[in-house]
Amino acid sequence: MKPARLLNEISLSLKYMSPGGMTVKHIYMDYNATTPLRPEALDALLPYLKEDFGNPSSVHWAGRAVSGAVEKAREQVARLINCSAAEIVFVSCGTEGDNFAIKGTAEALRAKGDHIITTTVEHPAVLASCQALEKQGFRVTYLDVDADGMLDLQALEQAIEEKTILISIMWGNNETGTVFPIEEVGHIARKYKVRFHTDAVQAAGKIPVDVQSANVDLLVLSGHKIGAPKGVGALYIRKGSRMVSLLHGGHQERNRRGGTHNVASIVAFGLACELAGAELEANYHRVKALRDRLERGILSSITEVKLNGHPEKRLPGTLNVSFSYIEGESLLLNLDMKGIAASSGSACTSGSLEPSHVMGAMGVDVALAHSSTRFSLGPDNTEEEIDYLLEILPPIVQRLREMSPLYNK
Ligand SMILES: Cc1ncc(COP(=O)(O)O)c(C=O)c1O
Repeated sequence: MKPARLLNEISLSLKYMSPGGMTVKHIYMDYNATTPLRPEALDALLPYLKEDFGNPSSVHWAGRAVSGAVEKAREQVARLINCSAAEIVFVSCGTEGDNFAIKGTAEALRAKGDHIITTTVEHPAVLASCQALEKQGFRVTYLDVDADGMLDLQALEQAIEEKTILISIMWGNNETGTVFPIEEVGHIARKYKVRFHTDAVQAAGKIPVDVQSANVDLLVLSGHKIGAPKGVGALYIRKGSRMVSLLHGGHQERNRRGGTHNVASIVAFGLACELAGAELEANYHRVKALRDRLERGILSSITEVKLNGHPEKRLPGTLNVSFSYIEGESLLLNLDMKGIAASSGSACTSGSLEPSHVMGAMGVDVALAHSSTRFSLGPDNTEEEIDYLLEILPPIVQRLREMSPLYNK
């Protein structure tokens, strides 16, 4: 048995055991946080942690043995988003990619303008990069979204001014799954000759992502959201786009990003992109059917539930719902005890539970924002898992509601 397969078998059998010996079936429904490593990706990367250990920048046999693998991965990543391999820069994660795209563009185009447009619902990797630039004197417009988390294209067009140098708008939202009209955004950006960056960390590999038809100039991907290891990602930089590097160092990545390549992870990432592309349509329908089953089941068996996000224009596996009268964190703990891994819309920062900025931007009321719960599914989930969740969820919600002083029994 191949080592990767063996590891997978062991982890599958551990899945059903809890420390106390009691058996709790582990069901993973947090694919937007991270995904399990694909066994094929693990098989592909292992040789690069063992015999093929060379540095791809070395000219000798050990380097040559691996540089081809890095270039093959570059082509695999490029194919997923329809660009040329030379336009792909490997980075350490989605966060680095977003920082690089935004700060690198701002610095390169500083003489041309000082204005950036983004949205209020971006990932912190984008929001914090923009905030950092504001401290350096750049001006940032944060576009609002509507109650479904959808963007207003007219507001985007109106926000563009002479000094606008960058539009940074995500492809698919990590919390709600709402998919923005990226082709239209690209069209507007092109019309006004403004550089367009999109964070496609959640969208790539799940829905078609094509930088040509969407007129995207900069796009970010992250390996661990599509079955590759954590700690690898890519930034697509359209040929001819002026950029300042974030990481200065060696001549790697055509002088665009210094640092010795994370060869094993890059190889796995390339393969994961190829597989995601090949399986995209089948996985889209499979995962969406599971998500829809879960959504229908929750909405029909539990009262006072609110769907957060756009009802149709949504990533196939994402379901974000708020249950009146309960705290998302308590629900998550109860689900965890039943073996289910999901996620809440609140971030536990310095002891206080802050409701998510995405819920706030959508105008979700604070109590409902606190109860927002995200189930994000992937191709490994099954109908049985959905049905198990649908069986245990209503009594948990009922029990938690009965503990709430606001709940009118
Ligand atoms: C939309 C989005 N952008 C960026 C990131 C950051 O990616 P990474 O974890 O690879 O830094 C994430 C991770 O959750 C994300 O969901």
